[in-house]
Amino acid sequence: MSRPLILAATPVPAHLEEKLKQACEVIKVPRGTRPSDSVSAEQAGQVEGLLCNPAVPVDAALMDALPALKVISNFAVGYDNIDVTAAASRQIIVCNTPGVLDAAVADLTIGLLICLSRNLVHGDTYVRDGSWETRGAPPLTQDVRGKTIGLLGMGRIGREVARLAQAFDLTVLYHNRNRDPQADESGLAEYVDRDALFARSDFVSIHVPHTPETENSIGKREFDLMKPSAYVINTGRGAVINEPELIEALKTDQIAGAALDVMVQEPLPADHPLCKLPNVILQAHIGSATTETRLAMITLATENLLDVLAGRTPKAVVTPS
Ligand code: DGY
Repeated sequence: MSRPLILAATPVPAHLEEKLKQACEVIKVPRGTRPSDSVSAEQAGQVEGLLCNPAVPVDAALMDALPALKVISNFAVGYDNIDVTAAASRQIIVCNTPGVLDAAVADLTIGLLICLSRNLVHGDTYVRDGSWETRGAPPLTQDVRGKTIGLLGMGRIGREVARLAQAFDLTVLYHNRNRDPQADESGLAEYVDRDALFARSDFVSIHVPHTPETENSIGKREFDLMKPSAYVINTGRGAVINEPELIEALKTDQIAGAALDVMVQEPLPADHPLCKLPNVILQAHIGSATTETRLAMITLATENLLDVLAGRTPKAVVTPS
């Protein structure tokens, strides 16, 4: 029996590539190339699996160009790069990598919260540019302890942030489409309505996925609700925030600042207005970018793909749910 043909549109470590090659014919898709453009028309008709990442848009047209496709395995927990409705209507299984990156993203969230409160990025510059010597001690910063963090979204990552936040004596509020009975009962976090979350929090941390409903769902209205001393932290997806309205709120000091690991446009161009704001900390979408976590993610993504092609139930399926 011939082995299924798959497209690897994301880098795979050598040992996993070997594992893929034991079961499949593998064609590597060069970065930035549309997967269907990296194969002949004949091969396109035979591709059964696609391993991809959030930088690879997987739309209905791509699925139509790969008519034998059975599985799209995303090397990420988020899957807003994939038209899951189009996949479902073509009986294509979509897989992702939940669970294995929760700790890394939660760690980064708390790290950013501390950076914002203690002004660590400017503090580093203050030493390096000689200001400490010439101007004396830098301005005072703020305590973390005793403050309130509001989690918009209470999935796995939100819960992990809540757990870490308790170690810093933060009061934890959350708002989610569905209440989390475990969080409520264990005292991990207090459920509040959406407006109260923005109004009461010193840090609003975003943990909702990017969907048509959440796109641009945080904007002027929400910044108007926030305290002028409050910060926004986004380690989810950039498109959930209305970026021009965030920039306006930051420019006018309507809110104190923001820490963004994700933006609407990635990679963020160096001349982007966000890069000009002193009250923003920017990171290059590194929430899950540790050696250990990325290995766990690509291992899960590879196994998901192989499971579907072998007729086994994969560990993590987005659709069919
Ligand atoms: C994810 O897994 O969705 C992270 O944002 C990494 O892309």
